[in-house]
Amino acid sequence: MATQSIKPMVAGNWKMNGTTANLKEPRLLAGMLRGVKLKCDVMVCPPATLIRRVKAVMKGSMIKAGGQDCHAAVSGAHTGDISADMLKDAGATAVIVGHSERRTNHKETDAMVAAKAQAAHKAGINAIICIGETLDERKGGKTLEVLTSQIKASVPAGCTAANTVIAYEPVWAIGTGLTPTVAEIAEAHAHIRKELSAVMAEEGAKTRILYGGSVKPTNAVELMGIANVNGALVGGASLKAVDFIGIIKAYI
Ligand code: 13P
Repeated sequence: MATQSIKPMVAGNWKMNGTTANLKEPRLLAGMLRGVKLKCDVMVCPPATLIRRVKAVMKGSMIKAGGQDCHAAVSGAHTGDISADMLKDAGATAVIVGHSERRTNHKETDAMVAAKAQAAHKAGINAIICIGETLDERKGGKTLEVLTSQIKASVPAGCTAANTVIAYEPVWAIGTGLTPTVAEIAEAHAHIRKELSAVMAEEGAKTRILYGGSVKPTNAVELMGIANVNGALVGGASLKAVDFIGIIKAYI
């Protein structure tokens, strides 16, 4: 299947930001998108405490809500953790797993990420699996090698184009204002596409590959126009409706 036929997705990862006071942003976003014919799916991933309320303020819009992480187990003695079932119960249709901040801050391994993705599928929600190289790895010419090993070990059996999204987020581009060049992103995404076909067979050709890392309204059109880039995973710029819509506009 030609990658042009893949419906793109723009997802906002609020990270550990947002309280009730911030609900005005998704409300505003839903209002701004009312009646707009979108060529992409839109998702907001607030902290788990806000999922239900974000859904409520976006009611009537096509915007979906997602979680930012889940535990691999369905339930049990895991104080402070949250399961994919719980996220689904709160209204999430997807969960981000393997974000580099989790891999770094919580020492999450590829195997743990794969188990979380499987837990999401078991709960009936989609997994947005994050991969990406560090600055040292890029400088050392290891980017493609790192992506290959992350895909092989973090993308579990059972992944399909319908239940899985891959997000390529170079660690050094997150929150820094830096982005790889168009050629570097094209190379990474083409490589991911090839590796996905190896682990997901024909589903790999249809799976969305998002780019994440300093996506802004000012660079969205250029970044979203790159081959095999099927949308964006947005951090900082997803917190304000006006900025987020500026990125979504790449698909209006
Ligand atoms: P920024 O858009 O703030 O660089 O964050 C990207 C990110 O980590 C999304 O998951």
